[in-house]
Amino acid sequence: MQVEGKKVLVTGASQGIGAEAAFRFAAHGAHVHLVARSAELLDLQVKRISEFGGSATAHQADLADAGQIRALAEEVPAPDVLVNNAGVGRWLFLDDTEPEELVTMTAVPYLAALLLTREYLGAMRQRGSGWIVNVNSPVSRLPIPGCVGYQSARWALRGLTASLRSDLRGTGVGVSEVIPGKVSSEYFSNNPGAEERIPGIARLMIPTVTPAQCAKAIVDAVEKERAEHLFPWQLKAFEISGRLFPGLTSYLAWKTGTHR
Ligand SMILES: NC(=O)c1ccc[n+]([C@@H]2O[C@H](COP(=O)([O-])OP(=O)(O)OC[C@H]3O[C@@H](n4cnc5c(N)ncnc54)[C@H](OP(=O)(O)O)[C@@H]3O)[C@@H](O)[C@H]2O)c1
Repeated sequence: MQVEGKKVLVTGASQGIGAEAAFRFAAHGAHVHLVARSAELLDLQVKRISEFGGSATAHQADLADAGQIRALAEEVPAPDVLVNNAGVGRWLFLDDTEPEELVTMTAVPYLAALLLTREYLGAMRQRGSGWIVNVNSPVSRLPIPGCVGYQSARWALRGLTASLRSDLRGTGVGVSEVIPGKVSSEYFSNNPGAEERIPGIARLMIPTVTPAQCAKAIVDAVEKERAEHLFPWQLKAFEISGRLFPGLTSYLAWKTGTHR
């Protein structure tokens, strides 16, 4: 789907991957709706897009709150492209994580993507066109030790993508899953303790990518109608190794990962 002239809604667009994706969609001629909790950061991103000559509006919403997802869907009619990118979650052993924190890291990304997609799916199907992008983490492919809550929410997001793809076959509405390796966003300062838990094997093999590279991958996924994009290629190689040699790959991730 060409994005020029289309309406795109990006969640988690106040910073990081979402902010860069919103900017790139706008640079490709789309009108972008930016969603997150921080009104101030959203306004900065809208200003940045407007100064570049693009078209954007900010929508403040806490996507961990189902009521606010409903209100957002009433405020913004179904876009042509929905990017489910907002996400949080510290990497912790399950019994070290408070129940409230487990609920929050499951709510965003997983429940937020599930509920917001549900809000817009009917209109997309009726129009017979639309695109949904779910931004996911490598741990949805290659489990690592010490982040049960974060990891299970990403597996749920992977399940959502696969289920939707099956239901949407032949409807004109498509789904992409974009999975970057480690990204040089503020994620690791926003979620302290996560960075240290990346297994040594992944640090050694997989270079860090930038939010701008993620934005390109997200816009490309829509324009080229790609089902799945894992990058950089070293991550893709590791993922293939996980499918060919699951025992060895998961042993290496465990051996070079976090223990207590
Ligand atoms: N960084 C990485 O290495 C990496 C790698 C692969 C995948 N990912 C995934 O990519 C997604 C984006 O990550 P990032 O690196 O861009 O992280 P980030 O810089 O921390 O940005 C997260 C975004 O999500 C928004 N957000 C968080 N909770 C929210 C809520 N309750 N309601 C609405 N918006 C909310 C934040 O905005 P507010 O705080 O203003 O609400 C922010 O805009 C995450 O799901 C992450 O797991 C990240």
